[in-house]
Amino acid sequence: MNKIIGIVSGKGGVGKTTLCANAAFSLARAGKKVIAVDGDISLKNLDIPLGMTDKSAYDLTDILNGCDPERAVQVHDDYPALHFISAPQEIESAPDPVKFRDLCMRLRASYDFVLIDAPAGVGGWVRDIISCCDECVVVATPDLTALRDAQRVAQLIADSGNPSARLVINKVSPSMIKRGYLQNVDDMMDSVALPLLGLVPTDDSILIYSNSGKPVAGSKSVCSGPFENIAARLCGKSVPLDKYWRKKKNR
Ligand SMILES: Nc1ncnc2c1ncn2[C@@H]1O[C@H](COP(=O)(O)OP(=O)(O)OP(=O)(O)O)[C@@H](O)[C@H]1O
Ligand SMILES: [Mg+2]
Repeated sequence: MNKIIGIVSGKGGVGKTTLCANAAFSLARAGKKVIAVDGDISLKNLDIPLGMTDKSAYDLTDILNGCDPERAVQVHDDYPALHFISAPQEIESAPDPVKFRDLCMRLRASYDFVLIDAPAGVGGWVRDIISCCDECVVVATPDLTALRDAQRVAQLIADSGNPSARLVINKVSPSMIKRGYLQNVDDMMDSVALPLLGLVPTDDSILIYSNSGKPVAGSKSVCSGPFENIAARLCGKSVPLDKYWRKKKNR
């Protein structure tokens, strides 16, 4: 079944855009037709980790204002099944929620996955995005501030009465957990009260892949498997927790 998935967080900088790009790459590599939509209006940056910077003069607002989507939808050079709509750099007011919903529904009819990279927080535009989604992926990092903010977003999603939600904990450091500096994963999940979609370890090499617009999936990064597995779980596959994590979980 085709799905609209919003990638959201309370706290900023937790890895939504990185996850959105790499989930999109992994889904495309798995043969799915996927469109990534940069919903972070005014602070767009999904084009960078996707390696699709400056490919079109048109963006989300142009489509909502009547531009033919064919002109604004960009196709990835290496992954023809991966398409992208960029966000406007400047915008006077948030997109019209009715037009945005209509666009999402049209995209869902054409793609297996519509991935929307949301801005951080619980503002009105984030709520509009959530209300269009079939499912939300709430991203948090292991620190208490990010987890508390994720809990707030999870509540917002529940209150919207619409989409289901799962949690990705990014930038996980097993050694920090082992030394007692961070809660264990079960406690993190309990604090946000969402089922787990995936755990992604912290890995500085992600920056290199993101800056060069290359997928982490299929690379030597320890995050490669976790991103692939998140994509597989989004496809409905039952994939056990990543080996990387299982080996180090209870140290
Ligand atoms: N697993 C990881 N390990 C190490 N660094 C990471 C990881 N995931 C993301 N990062 C880095 O963290 C920074 C923030 O990531 P990203 O831009 O994806 O976050 P974001 O949630 O989209 O931020 P914003 O809320 O500002 O949109 C980036 O420099 C990115 O390369
Ligand atoms: Mg972002």
